[in-house]
Amino acid sequence: MNIAVIGAGYVGLVTAAGLASLGHHVSLGEANADRVRRLEDGEIPIYESGLDELVRWARSSNRLRFHQSNIEAVKGAELVFLCLPTPAGDDGRADLSFVESVVRELAHSLESGAAFVVKSTVPPGTAQALQASLLAAGSPTAVISHPEFLREGTAVHDFLHPDRVVIGSDDPILAKAVASLYDSLATEVIETDQTSAEMIKYSSNSYLATRLTFANTLANLCEAVGADIVDVLRGVGLDHRIGPHFLKPGPGYGGSCFPKDTLALISLAEDAGYDFRLLRAVIAADEEQRRRVADKVKAAAGGGLRGRRVAVWGVAFKAGTDDVRESPSSLIAALLQREGALVTAYDPEARDPNLRHADSALAAVEGADVLLVATEWPEFAKVDLEQVAARMRGHRVVDARNLLDPRQVRAAGLDYSGLGRPNA
Ligand code: UDX
Repeated sequence: MNIAVIGAGYVGLVTAAGLASLGHHVSLGEANADRVRRLEDGEIPIYESGLDELVRWARSSNRLRFHQSNIEAVKGAELVFLCLPTPAGDDGRADLSFVESVVRELAHSLESGAAFVVKSTVPPGTAQALQASLLAAGSPTAVISHPEFLREGTAVHDFLHPDRVVIGSDDPILAKAVASLYDSLATEVIETDQTSAEMIKYSSNSYLATRLTFANTLANLCEAVGADIVDVLRGVGLDHRIGPHFLKPGPGYGGSCFPKDTLALISLAEDAGYDFRLLRAVIAADEEQRRRVADKVKAAAGGGLRGRRVAVWGVAFKAGTDDVRESPSSLIAALLQREGALVTAYDPEARDPNLRHADSALAAVEGADVLLVATEWPEFAKVDLEQVAARMRGHRVVDARNLLDPRQVRAAGLDYSGLGRPNA
């Protein structure tokens, strides 16, 4: 099939290259001229495992082309995927201006019978509203909801091995056309109406945010009662009704999705006259989690942070990505700096412009009073702890990801404090 994808962010690029790898012909429209030029030159503007190879292959087999003009990109396309950002506005509501303006721009440029396919996360009701506004403007174009579930860092894998494909449309023939794109993948396809499809995306992300916040708050309780969260969650996760995934305690959730999607769902509920108290409590507990980690560092520094040197391992919001959007690590580092700490960070891929960065994990701990492990990059678990101890000025390690082995840390002469493991 001929497909246009609008937006070369991580969702757009992975979707475009992924669809090309399934045998489709894809034209990718991206307004940022510099990004298009870099892509033409074979450069991948984001760090995403496997994307480089996939894009290179798609280009060499003439299945993927880049355009700076969206109007050029949609020429000949039967489906136009919208992969545009929907950031949280000041009031927490999803800002739909990118999606709306591209739909307006392209309203009269699509081939006859072509449809818009919304990949971006948009509030329930959006696809129907866009379809109605197109009709009112004299363009009877269908708008299909087809949410993405791509995790950063494993997005290529997630595209090629989806747990499910969700398609929301009021036109069964178009829904089948979208479903057929994935014929070569063995996956469950859910066909539903547009609003339910949009709701599935918000519900999945809000549930996952709730689940991991539950794990984080349980870790806090384990500290208070002297239990070990790692054993507790292993015991909990073996119940097949619960399962082991997404239960790793950490410094709170970050990234481009959970923070904005939870806020947007609350606003959506508010607009519909429903007070989503559970989700409000999740957001409050998540904020508190970052404060708690900062307090642990403060306590490890002796109760005050002024002039204390803190090494922070990891600034990405999670391992496997260079993304620092809403990164708990960055937010915690900012809290520490506000109280006078001198922070030196190291991350194998990510950079936080507000932090001083060292060239290696060992260089970051030079002269540090406290080491904070904030992102779970596997390489941190392999750093020579004797060397860490020799380079630090102090001897306290706060492991906000429970990544290091407490016994090995102590064997190197350092003090260890994880999350929810008071006796580990
Ligand atoms: C998420 C959704 O998973 C994906 O389906 C959606 O389309 C985009 O948003 P992503 O933002 O890449 O993906 O991150 P994810 O892997 O889901 O992690 C989100 C946050 O939860 C991260 O900050 C991560 O560190 C944290 N997390 C996750 C934990 O602290 N513990 C866990 O067990 C799992």
